[in-house]
Amino acid sequence: MRITLSLIKADVGSIGGHTQPSADMLAAVRERIDGAVHEGMIIDSYVSYTGDDIAILMSHTRGEDNAGVHELAWNAFLEATDRARRDGLYGAGQDLLADAPSGNVRGAGPAVAEIEFEHDLTKPRPAESFMMFAADKCGPGAYNLPFYLGFADPMYCAGLMLPKMIRGFTFRIIDMERTDADYALELDAPEDAYRIAALLRDNERFAIESITSRTYSDKAVSISAQRLHSIAGEYTGKDDPVALVRNQGIFPAPEELLQPFTKAHYVGGDARGSHNMPLMPVPVNTAVTGAYCLPVVSCVGFSLSADGHFSREAADFFDNPAWDETRRKAQHKALEMRSQGWSGPAMLPYTELEYGGFRNTVEELLEQFRAQD
Ligand code: 13P
Ligand code: MG
Ligand code: MG
Repeated sequence: MRITLSLIKADVGSIGGHTQPSADMLAAVRERIDGAVHEGMIIDSYVSYTGDDIAILMSHTRGEDNAGVHELAWNAFLEATDRARRDGLYGAGQDLLADAPSGNVRGAGPAVAEIEFEHDLTKPRPAESFMMFAADKCGPGAYNLPFYLGFADPMYCAGLMLPKMIRGFTFRIIDMERTDADYALELDAPEDAYRIAALLRDNERFAIESITSRTYSDKAVSISAQRLHSIAGEYTGKDDPVALVRNQGIFPAPEELLQPFTKAHYVGGDARGSHNMPLMPVPVNTAVTGAYCLPVVSCVGFSLSADGHFSREAADFFDNPAWDETRRKAQHKALEMRSQGWSGPAMLPYTELEYGGFRNTVEELLEQFRAQD
């Protein structure tokens, strides 16, 4: 059977500032999504939050970009928005930018990652295991370095040297600055590894949209590579990207994919979407309450049964003492960066400042400069 995994997330309100959604908002989403499972519209679901973003994971047979599935997620977010508004929560409905989606929530605010594949539990996928990533307080480029290393660098993924992966992977990269159309480029690792790096070094402009096996033509990764501020034309919060990553067998193993996250690398986002701060791995359903935020990422693993159901339990990868060291490192790197306040790399460059207000302040001053004789 052809199975589609759809991961759709939105920030539609949070408690006490941009920290976490309320239990009531999550209940509203779960109620609506459970109803769709009950009616047989989708097969299974998993609703979680990372910081102030609610992520809905669904399995179904309706394919990618399915109007019914997207509307289902949209309506679930609308109900959560109603509850957020009723309780006076912060940023109610923040990511629902259009009045109603025209059958597809892409470009309407929510972040979308989807993968459709043949699911019959025979070779080359005798077992289907995958991970969902959700990151808060950062943009889609936050995944550039870790997924490049996981899918193109044998120093991180020794599995790339095995026959099933040695031909490498195709990276589909999108240019997030250009919003009149979707501009994408496909480059093959390992031959084009340096070219891929040349683009992915710019986290704010270029992002990986998908990664596909060159041997099996199976998609391994899908990332919600949209930029809300490019789409909406004004600041509406950071994009806070989600990603689906299939693992094992013909793809890298979880440990190979997660090793790069021990870097707690600096990414754009954080407070007011305007700073560079380290990405800290956290358990799923963690609020963002640290000093000066800290961008966070969660990762949950699932297996998929023959009929498309998720394993009863999910593996919460970052909910493990093994990650305490990385979390301490992230805090340390954050304190170092914050000690220089607004200076240089501590904040994003002028062109990337998310809040229009920063730009307005500088523009007002620019007008007052006078050429000296
Ligand atoms: P969110 O995009 O998660 O709402 O964060 C907004 C922000 O600017 C944090 O300071
Ligand atoms: Mg928010
Ligand atoms: Mg958020």
